[in-house]
Amino acid sequence: MQKQIIQRNERVEEVFHLFIKHIQNFLKEAKLNHEEYTNFVNWADRLGKKGELPLYADVFLETHVLRAMYTDKPGTQPSLLGPYFIEGSPLVESRPGEPLVLTQRPDEAGEVLYFKGSVSNTDGMPLGNIRVEMWQNDNTGKYSAFDSDAPRYNLRGHFDTDENGNFEVKTIVPLPYSIPTDGPTGEFLEYMDQHPMRPAHLHLMFEAEGHETLITQVFFEGDEWLETDVADGVRTELLTTLEDKDDHKEASLNFFMRPK
Ligand code: BEZ
Ligand code: FE
Repeated sequence: MQKQIIQRNERVEEVFHLFIKHIQNFLKEAKLNHEEYTNFVNWADRLGKKGELPLYADVFLETHVLRAMYTDKPGTQPSLLGPYFIEGSPLVESRPGEPLVLTQRPDEAGEVLYFKGSVSNTDGMPLGNIRVEMWQNDNTGKYSAFDSDAPRYNLRGHFDTDENGNFEVKTIVPLPYSIPTDGPTGEFLEYMDQHPMRPAHLHLMFEAEGHETLITQVFFEGDEWLETDVADGVRTELLTTLEDKDDHKEASLNFFMRPK
């Protein structure tokens, strides 16, 4: 096999040196002993071997990266990408006079939801004909392509906003769900006496030329897990109301993207 040539990466050096500088004070304050260090290494080894490193990082670290980057910045607050995004979702075809229908089985179980959004930039200019990617869990709380019997791209799709920056999608109401608890991430939750639940949410990603890609989530008022989301992904601006209609629910939110 050919040896891979890996070049010096000054950013890696910079970040690692900062990490060591800050971890020294942390270690003094935490008074970590060598047995605890060994326990940590063994647990992290199990985490990696079980393939749970992305899950653990997305539950316990991603929110801090986003808060450090975006708190107090104008525009819609980003939220977690999470471990359940996959590339290659189908285009949701539009039919004149009908709402877009997020990819789903003919008999998809769940309460029908019409979700409306409008997308503009932080100066208030509507962002027409830009790409919106959407994904969510189903009525069993599962994401397609992950421990689910649904087709790979079920409840996943992309489409464009209309010329005024608006969109409306017919889907189902997502459910609150438990992150997996049968591995080292679950073991960690036990140590922390923390429940494994996330509030129900829609995942959305917006891409527009000249703007920062916005990856975020939409949550629903009244969800019992909003205040204690295990992954701390909830932001007040991302809350909407599920309105009761005769045979379906409706919800909406306005999104604001940051120019680059
Ligand atoms: C999610 O949004 O589905 C998610 C985010 C972080 C960790 C686990 C799940
Ligand atoms: Fe999710």
